[in-house]
Amino acid sequence: MDGRIYQSHLPTGLPGPAPASREHARQIDKIGQPQAEEELMQGVSLRPLTLSDADQLVHLLSTNRKFLHGWMPAGDEGASDEKDRASVPAIVAECAAGGKWFGFIELDGKPVGALSMRIQRDLTQTAAIGYWVAEQVNGQGVASAAVEKAVEMAFGDFGLHKVEAFAREDNVGSCRVLEKNGFQRVGVSRSHQHIGGRWWDMACFQRLAPWHDGVSRTPPAH
Ligand SMILES: CC(C)(COP(=O)(O)OP(=O)(O)OC[C@H]1O[C@@H](n2cnc3c(N)ncnc32)[C@H](O)[C@@H]1OP(=O)(O)O)[C@@H](O)C(=O)NCCC(=O)NCCS
Repeated sequence: MDGRIYQSHLPTGLPGPAPASREHARQIDKIGQPQAEEELMQGVSLRPLTLSDADQLVHLLSTNRKFLHGWMPAGDEGASDEKDRASVPAIVAECAAGGKWFGFIELDGKPVGALSMRIQRDLTQTAAIGYWVAEQVNGQGVASAAVEKAVEMAFGDFGLHKVEAFAREDNVGSCRVLEKNGFQRVGVSRSHQHIGGRWWDMACFQRLAPWHDGVSRTPPAH
C-alpha cells in the first residue's frame, strides 16, 4: 500500500455534540440552512499504519478496550497493550505484501479509530472490511465517512470486485454504516466470529464494484 492519505471531502473539528444532533442537522439542511450533513463529515481521512505508529495504536486501543468489548477482538479478555504492540510489525508486513490494508481513521489529522481490509486476490477479488471508532467520537459520521473512503480505495486503487463486511445483527450502528454506504445485506453467517468469549452469528453485507457487469474480472483501466 502506498503512503497516501485518503482525505474525505467530507469532517472538521474534534468531537462536538453527538448523535442526537445529526437528524437535527438533516432537518435544518432540508429547509436550506447551513450545517449540511456533508459539512459534519469534513475532516475524516485514512492513513496507513507504519512501524512508528505502534505507541499511538496501543494508546487508542487501550483507552477504548471496554468500549470494544463484545464487538471487536481488541476488547476481549486476553487482549493487552503488549499483544497489540507486538502485532504491529506483522500487520505492516502483511500490508506491504498486499494482503491487507490497515490504518488509522483520522479526524482532522488525529487518530480516532482503525480500519482494515483483508484483500483476497483469488477468484473472489474481494476485500473484507472491519472498523471501529473511539467512543469519544461516536455518532458523528466518522465510521460512515471512513468506510466511504475505504470503498473508494478498494474499487479504485485496488481494482477489486467486491467489498464485504460482517456485523453482529444487534450492532445497529455498524449495520447502518454499511447500509448508508450502499452495502446490501445478503444473509447471515452462522457462528462467524469468536468475540468476547463466544461465537456470534453475523449479518453479511456486500457491495459490488460500480463497473461490475457479471463478466469482467478487473475494472476497465486495470
Ligand atoms: C459501529 C461504529 C463503528 C459506528 O461508528 P460511528 O462513527 O458512530 O458511526 P456513524 O456515526 O458514521 O453512523 C452510525 C449510524 O448508526 C446509527 N445508530 C447508531 N446506534 C444506533 C442505534 N442504537 N439505533 C439506531 N441507529 C443507530 C446512527 O444514527 C448513524 O446513522 P444515521 O447517520 O442514519 O443517523 C462504532 O460504534 C464502533 O466502533 N463500535 C464498536 C466497534 C464495532 O462495533 N465495530 C464494527 C464491527 S462490525
